[in-house]
Formats: sequence, C-alpha cells, structure tokens
Amino acid sequence: MHDAIVIALGGSLLSSDNGGSLDSWKSNFTDLMVSISSKIRIVIVVGGGKLARKNISIAKKNGISNSFDLDLIGIEATRINAKEIIGFFSNSNLMIDGIIPETIADCVSYLNENNIVVMGGTVPGHTTDTVAIKMGAKLNSKLVVIATNVSHVFTSDPRNDSNAKPIERMTLDELGVISGIGKEILPGSSFAVDPVGVKIAIEHNLPLVILNGHDVDNLRKALCGESFDGTKVYGVEN
Ligand code: UTP
Repeated sequence: MHDAIVIALGGSLLSSDNGGSLDSWKSNFTDLMVSISSKIRIVIVVGGGKLARKNISIAKKNGISNSFDLDLIGIEATRINAKEIIGFFSNSNLMIDGIIPETIADCVSYLNENNIVVMGGTVPGHTTDTVAIKMGAKLNSKLVVIATNVSHVFTSDPRNDSNAKPIERMTLDELGVISGIGKEILPGSSFAVDPVGVKIAIEHNLPLVILNGHDVDNLRKALCGESFDGTKVYGVEN
C-alpha cells in the first residue's frame, strides 16, 4: 500500500476562540490540504473539542452515567466537526464527496478511491488520537501528526504546573509514561496524547509528532519533513 499521512486534528482548532482568526485558519488549512493531497494520501481524524465536552456534560446532568453511552455522544460530536471540515473544503478544488467513514476498515477502502479522507471517532473507549494512530498503523504511515492546541508534550500538565517544560524529542516509551498507559479513561477527559493510542503506537513502533495546529505553516513544515516546532516522538531503530 502507498504511503499516507494521518493528522489527528483537535476539535479545539474549530472554535472561534482558537487563538487567531478562524476564517484565516480555515483558509490556510484548506490550502495546505489542497497542496499536500496532490502528492500523498491524507487522513484527517477530527476531534470533538468543546462540542463533545459540552454534550457529554449535558448528558451527565440529564442522568446518563454509562461511559459507553457518553462516549457515543462524544463520537457524534467528532463527526459533526468532521462535517464542518468537509464544509471548508467544499469551496476548494479538493476531490471530496462528503462521506465520513465510521470504521478503520471503511476509511481504508475509501482511501483506495480518494486522496483525502475526513473522519471522526469510531468506537467507544478512546479518543480520536487513537483512531489516527490506528489508521497510521493500518496504512503503515510514515507520519502521524497530532495537531492540537498546545505546542508540545510537557514534562507535566502546564495548566496546573508553571514549571512544566516543553519536550522537543522523546521516545514512545517515555510518552507512554507521561500519558499514563493503563490508567482509566473517562469520557471527555483530556491528556497530552490518549494513552490507548500511545500503547498502539508503541506496539507498531509508529513515530508521532505533537504540535500546535493553530500555526498552519508549522504544520506544513512537519508534513513536508522540514524543521518545525513541536514534540517529535520516535520509536526504536530497527
Ligand atoms: P476527542 O477525540 O475529541 O477527545 O473525543 P479530546 O481529547 O477531547 O480531543 P480534542 O479536544 O478534540 O482535541 C471526545 C470524546 O469522544 C469519545 C470519548 O468520550 C472522547 O473523550 N470518543 C471519541 C470515543 O469514545 N471514541 C472515539 O473514537 C472518539
């Protein structure tokens, strides 16, 4: 199978408070996808962001406490955001027909006919980071980029620790420790990278990049193999 790039696109990037102008981000991101998808196949896995957190919190207030059902509400939000991304693309010359694959297998077959696929979540029990990592492993992708609203993986959570330091390079095993592989995952919770996905990346020795997706030019550099700002997570050399 030909090579492909997978991007986990944080849902927070689609909010109007994404740190810059949403309209210019949309237009820069669409232009980047037009240019990259002419050279390599791309899968964009869109997160649920604020919408997922809001809907999960409303559902909890309404008495839903079962993680499976709350996860389904989160997945629905990711697919709504995926539709929004497809909406951005509809005014460009990207060949995209608006179908959102709901499984890894459907994404693989859809990718046989299309150079760019946009999807959201798949099944309960993880976040869209894991969907992107599973797709990367399935496609033997040379790169999985987690484009989020923080610039790096940090030594500790920068929201609670002013001494948290950004990490430029780390191993998959080190990321496994920081992200907390094995700990319970609650619907709507947030981590540097979803530990379920990190475990799969370790099993497949799949390199990851974590960067701030607000900066589309920085994302371009990462996708094009140029030097960029973010955390490079590498596997073991074969
Ligand atoms: P996200 O992938 O959006 O998680 O899934 P996130 O960490 O909040 O990512 P951002 O903020 O968009 O970057 C939101 C929720 O949807 C459910 C989970 O409950 C998750 O916490 N979900 C998502 C699944 O159960 N399965 C999936 O495949 C995707």
